[in-house]
Amino acid sequence: MAATSVSVHPDVRKVLFDEDALRLRIRELGAQLTRDYAGRRLLVVGVLKGSLIFMSDLLRAIGNEVDVHMDFVAVSSYAGTASTGTIRVLLDLRENPEGRDMLVVEDIVDTGLTLSSLTETLRARRPASLEVCTLLDKVECRKTPFTPKYVGFKIPNEFVVGFGLDYDERYRQLPYVGILRTP
Ligand code: PRP
Repeated sequence: MAATSVSVHPDVRKVLFDEDALRLRIRELGAQLTRDYAGRRLLVVGVLKGSLIFMSDLLRAIGNEVDVHMDFVAVSSYAGTASTGTIRVLLDLRENPEGRDMLVVEDIVDTGLTLSSLTETLRARRPASLEVCTLLDKVECRKTPFTPKYVGFKIPNEFVVGFGLDYDERYRQLPYVGILRTP
């Protein structure tokens, strides 16, 4: 099978992770999660919108040994308070996380502000455990210390799109992760 079954978007300067690389890494993450949560019930929480495509593949890479449930949240940063990382919950969980094992799924961790605030909010609801799985990690861009337990790929400080990630809501549908050509 070709590495990328569609032609690369002209706005993409370089493909960082093609379909094969993504599939392989997500399979590895799924196997790791299956080992770590075998015999347990796991509430997998996707952070909309960016996590959608990664979460969809990740869920299908988790084995029968885990009793998987899914839920979603949507958050947005308050305008003008980015430096504090305060988030506003736009769509809340439908499931009650108290006493449950939770896995928050993200497409990317950048400054770390979104996830440090979101995980603090979720921990207040007393889950039995709470870990984070992100497809991409821009480690060098942190404004607050945050270390996700499960990471697909560490990436440099480049503007990436595709596989759920957008620029101005565009490019989310691209089946690969690529660096956006600067206008
Ligand atoms: C992206 C991403 C994370 C956040 C990471 O979401 O999905 O939620 O930014 O950035 P941070 O570590 O600097 O806080 P975005 O606000 O772009 O929304 P989206 O998921 O709808 O694309």
